[in-house]
Amino acid sequence: MKKYTIYFLLTVSFFSACTKKGVTAGGGTIPVPVPPVVVVDTNLYQFMPFPMGAAVGISLMKNNAKYSGVVTKEFNSITVENAMKFAALHPSETVYNWVDADYLVAYAQANGKRMHGHTLNWYASQPTWVTNYSGDSVAWEKMLKSHIQTVVSRYKGKLASWDVVNEYFNDDGTVRQSIWVKNLGPDYIARCFQYAHEADPDALLFYNDYGHEYSSAKRTAIGNLINSFKARKIPIHGIGMQFHTTTLQTEANIIAAINFAAATGLKVHISELDVRVNSNKVQGIVFTAAMAEQQADRYRQIVKAYNTVPKAQQFGITTWNVGDADSWVPSWQGAPDWPLPFDANYLRKPAYKAIIEGGK
Ligand code: XIL
Repeated sequence: MKKYTIYFLLTVSFFSACTKKGVTAGGGTIPVPVPPVVVVDTNLYQFMPFPMGAAVGISLMKNNAKYSGVVTKEFNSITVENAMKFAALHPSETVYNWVDADYLVAYAQANGKRMHGHTLNWYASQPTWVTNYSGDSVAWEKMLKSHIQTVVSRYKGKLASWDVVNEYFNDDGTVRQSIWVKNLGPDYIARCFQYAHEADPDALLFYNDYGHEYSSAKRTAIGNLINSFKARKIPIHGIGMQFHTTTLQTEANIIAAINFAAATGLKVHISELDVRVNSNKVQGIVFTAAMAEQQADRYRQIVKAYNTVPKAQQFGITTWNVGDADSWVPSWQGAPDWPLPFDANYLRKPAYKAIIEGGK
């Protein structure tokens, strides 16, 4: 009940500036007193029926008080954008660099935020010592196991969950020929989950990937992998759908992806949400109010579809960073974009309100 009252007040404060009017009496205009704007300190996560997260960048957290303030206020789940990737944590064979990851884990603990680990194994973000690693398959296996178990053990009991393997499949559903698959064979993925589970039996283990909303071949491959894990009793608890998506995506595809994930019976995490408005890569484009509304519609549809996932399976939704200026999209896409619910000054965009509406 409280949350709807707050939402109402928030709506009042959004629109009160527009309601100021005067009445005409005896040729003059008598100003009608406008009720004071109620400034309510709202938090996105308090409106949502499931955890609401953001991926965070370490230097922004440390050096930008506006950024860390928004993270603390609006979100109750945290993913580390880069600081737990292999290259960041394990820059040379005998050296682990824990400083940044530890900082964020300590932040999450001090502020009561759930922390999701990303990612133990990926085809990208490899340090050169791994790229150049020349051991035989036994040495590769030892190195893989040791990395996973060293990292998971360090944060045992502090992280709720891990993306164990990220982006194992190509878009056509075939197995990506990563350095890991080449050296260890395709079933190394099952051992990654087993190693992680041994190191922290309480951590929820996710398979994370992108493209569920546009590739039914990839969805099917992920579904088959999950079924084979279940049949072989390989520990897996969740499916992460990155959802780096665009305003051009259809609602039908969004719903199909979310329904497919829900049908696995595993926990479902929309793990890296952002919605591009310039996926045609137009240079020099400006962000208009109409684009902001289209983007808000897409956010609303995604959250609304996610809200139909059975409660016990809702791990939550995580946006991939916080404000438009922090997003990885412009440099990855090679063209400007504004994919997140906060603008470059951390002001709420229409997408913010749409997320709340989608969660109702
Ligand atoms: C991206 C980060 O946002 C960038 O800062 C980094 O340079 C590259 O990786 N899928 C994933 C994420 O699983 O780890 C990626 O993050 C975005 C795509």
